[in-house]
Amino acid sequence: MKVTVVGAGAVGATCADNIARKQLCDELVIVDIKEGVAEGKAMDLLQTAQIEGFDTKIIGSTNDYTKTANTDVAVITSGIPRKPGMTREELIGINAGIVKTVAQNILQHSPNAIIIVISNPMDTMTYLALKSTGLPKNRIIGMGGALDSARFRYNLSQAMKCSPNDLQASVIGGHGDTTMIPLTRLATYMGMPVSNFLDEEALKKVAADTMVGGATLTNLLGTSAWYAPGAAGAMLVESILRDEKRIVPCCVALDGEYGQSEICLGVPVVVGRNGWERIVDYKLNDEEQAAFNKSAEAVRSMNAVLETLGV
Ligand code: LAC
Repeated sequence: MKVTVVGAGAVGATCADNIARKQLCDELVIVDIKEGVAEGKAMDLLQTAQIEGFDTKIIGSTNDYTKTANTDVAVITSGIPRKPGMTREELIGINAGIVKTVAQNILQHSPNAIIIVISNPMDTMTYLALKSTGLPKNRIIGMGGALDSARFRYNLSQAMKCSPNDLQASVIGGHGDTTMIPLTRLATYMGMPVSNFLDEEALKKVAADTMVGGATLTNLLGTSAWYAPGAAGAMLVESILRDEKRIVPCCVALDGEYGQSEICLGVPVVVGRNGWERIVDYKLNDEEQAAFNKSAEAVRSMNAVLETLGV
């Protein structure tokens, strides 16, 4: 198995690190446009091999996509990250052209690759990757909901003073501070509704903290986060390559599901060897469906910006 991570910044490098440590593939290629950076990160990671006990072959490449040939899964992290005060949406002008080019370069050498999109604004970049490549929809997966759901569980676990591993909780909708929808009603603690443990006010705070999870970290770090985004990307790679068929909230093309079409938006999907294989229906209540529709509207207007950018 072969995986390519494009973008050797903090998210890409963390994703590559997770992929290598978990021995998810035989060969891992890291690509970056900055001369020598991908080669350097590959070498640094390879020097952890003996310490961590993995034997994945890691190759760094300065923008040479021939090295990525026959990739099974490609993770796109390229583009600029958020700075404090910036929304993910403000990155569109720069990142759209980059993501489109990267997706095309990958497919030129690996026509069967499954593509995971991490670059922001993630919902619009996923839609762009789908539209510009014309790939079957199951082969394009936006990572946002996987990360946001992990943050939701983190916030719940902090409030409930319990292990995040005993929580089930999903965030659907867009990967934006105002577009994501933490599904509090469906969140459970070992099968028991979390509302048995937290009152409405506490649950509202958990949801609100989850929605600004990325912004909170950007303010603390001066740039956007990388450990959880990178790990979430690697989790998707794992579910694909090991055909785990895990249910993960991801940004995928909707074709009438959840009442939306002509858009990529976060919904729970089964992730396996064919990419995302099936959308799971949460049977939203009226309030949740209204929030989902509102989120779709916001993402749709961001997608419309692609046309004005000419990409
Ligand atoms: C975040 C970025 C990766 O949420 O979107 O941290």
